[in-house]
Amino acid sequence: MMKDIVLSGIRPTGNLHLGNYYGAMVNFLKMQEEYKCYFFIADWHALTTHPDPKTLQENIKNVLAEYLACGLDPEKSTLYVQSDVPEIAELYLLLNMLAYKGELEKTVSFKEKARKNPENINAGLLTYPVLQAADILIHNADYVPVGKDQEQHLEMTRQFAKRFNHRYGVEYFKEPKAFASDSQQMIKIPGLDGSGKMGKSEGNCIYLIDEPKVIEKKVKSALTDSGPEGANTPKPDYIENLFTILKVVSTPEIVAHYENLWITGEQRWYGSLKKQLAEDIIKTTTPIRERINDIRNNEEYLNHVMKTGAEKARESAAKTIKEVREIIGFDTKKGQ
Ligand code: TRP
Repeated sequence: MMKDIVLSGIRPTGNLHLGNYYGAMVNFLKMQEEYKCYFFIADWHALTTHPDPKTLQENIKNVLAEYLACGLDPEKSTLYVQSDVPEIAELYLLLNMLAYKGELEKTVSFKEKARKNPENINAGLLTYPVLQAADILIHNADYVPVGKDQEQHLEMTRQFAKRFNHRYGVEYFKEPKAFASDSQQMIKIPGLDGSGKMGKSEGNCIYLIDEPKVIEKKVKSALTDSGPEGANTPKPDYIENLFTILKVVSTPEIVAHYENLWITGEQRWYGSLKKQLAEDIIKTTTPIRERINDIRNNEEYLNHVMKTGAEKARESAAKTIKEVREIIGFDTKKGQ
């Protein structure tokens, strides 16, 4: 039987943090055993904010090294860089003819970015969801593991797929589904500042490449208070957050120990909790950090992974583009 296709992209705009690791990466690792997976670095998408050319290249390699260090395996999944697959740009052009200004302007991510950076509302930003749809449809993916913030983009992808099929009277593109975005499979790791999710833009992250000293410092400075207000009281968010992370990185015995302290209403043990939490985060991230550094220093290996990944991705992408050209009415036999 043909395996279902899973696809996901990440913009090369920073390093992976614990939230990315437990929220997305751990699932990617499971998926690569069961599905035909495409994971790529969305470097064209990163251009909307005009990154410095040197930084862009560095970031692409950093993200790739981090993917590989976490356990994504180029033998099992197709790992590639978006800009190495020109077929995606062609599909983007073609899909742009089916995307309307009104719907693009209404996209939440567009409105937010336009509000935050009114001096840089470029057409690439407006058509960002079209490029994302091209990423997904170029391999006719069945599932896209995305967080809540990407659900609208996925909905638009389905819309463009349907519109294409309808316009040309074909059943060509599948309508990709979100992969278990709100089920328990996607663990949400909170930030250390008592606010919501851990996120690059919130500045509340522990990165996989953080050195132990940095992790200790970040955990130490997490928001706490003097302790529970009594026995059996509900936990405030910022304390609950520390427990959420503890549950992910520590043993059940350790978690039970601190849960008990909470229940008794005893005070003055947050120092010990933080020390334990930092220690267990460090235990989890150290082997990954070491692998990231090794892989990042091996340019030859990184180049090899990018080259072979692009070849595999282009094989599937070229097939789609050929079929799409035929459906639209281009003569694909010309010059053969
Ligand atoms: N827009 C996604 C993000 O910001 C990145 C992305 C680009 C993506 N193309 C994709 C994710 C295709 C899933 C599928 O996180």
